[in-house]
Amino acid sequence: MEIINRRQRMFSIARKLRRENKTVAFVPTMGALHAGHLALVKEARQMADVVIVSVFVNPAQFNDKGDLERYPRDLAGDAAMLAEYDVDFIFAPEASEIYPPDFSTYVYVENLTETLEGASRPGHFRGVATVVTILFNTVRPDIAVFGQKDAQQLAVIRKMTRDLGFETEIVGVPTVREESGLAMSSRNSLLSDEEREKASVIYQALRSAKLAFKEGQRNASKLAQIVQETLDAEPLAMTDYVAVVDADSLEPIEKIGDNEAMIAVAVRFGKVRLIDNVILNRRQ
Ligand code: PAF
Repeated sequence: MEIINRRQRMFSIARKLRRENKTVAFVPTMGALHAGHLALVKEARQMADVVIVSVFVNPAQFNDKGDLERYPRDLAGDAAMLAEYDVDFIFAPEASEIYPPDFSTYVYVENLTETLEGASRPGHFRGVATVVTILFNTVRPDIAVFGQKDAQQLAVIRKMTRDLGFETEIVGVPTVREESGLAMSSRNSLLSDEEREKASVIYQALRSAKLAFKEGQRNASKLAQIVQETLDAEPLAMTDYVAVVDADSLEPIEKIGDNEAMIAVAVRFGKVRLIDNVILNRRQ
């Protein structure tokens, strides 16, 4: 496993791999790796000859400076974990390598990016789409693997990949959860022990709504109400949003029909903002 810091070096390795007809699976991350990321890496390992993982805390996707400063970083720990998973290359550039001082070009995906996370974090998806474009152009992967926990990000990247004509297949991997049901996230390490324990209410709330759906409830506001009431019962949970949307367009829906729908939430515990979702009517 080689750790690469320079974009130019990553370019030349990617070019050499293509010349050798090796398929490349890519897992973009911001580091502070956990079992959720490792599930993405495992999937990538099964799908291609070469696995490349990027570790880059992308300043362009943080609209809150404190959040960027607090974001956990541990490249040595990440590298030790990835070595165990048979990863071939880690691409871990400095911010100046990706964003030189005169950087001025951004990728903006319309429609999908204004709601949910986009409404609470203006500029976030512009930052994500821009960095993923730069990373795709540097690594030139055949396959790129993302987590379903960040469902809106996955929808934005799928759309961007289609619109901009990247020759990369986007693969989504189901959310990995802690034993309590809390979705794995690098941000979980910023929670106090008490917050981490209580944050399991997020998945309980989503599961209660999913159960109501299975028992026949199709009214989106009733499902949202179940989630909201469960969250409200936990004093440490400050709900940012509960939304029931079409899983592809992310448009709000009133009644769940035959299409895949998603219940998405964002909840604050202290200074830490957590997101999660469940899919209803999942396509096989
Ligand atoms: O999901 C993440 O960790 C980030 O948003 C990504 C895709 C690596 C872009 O910085």
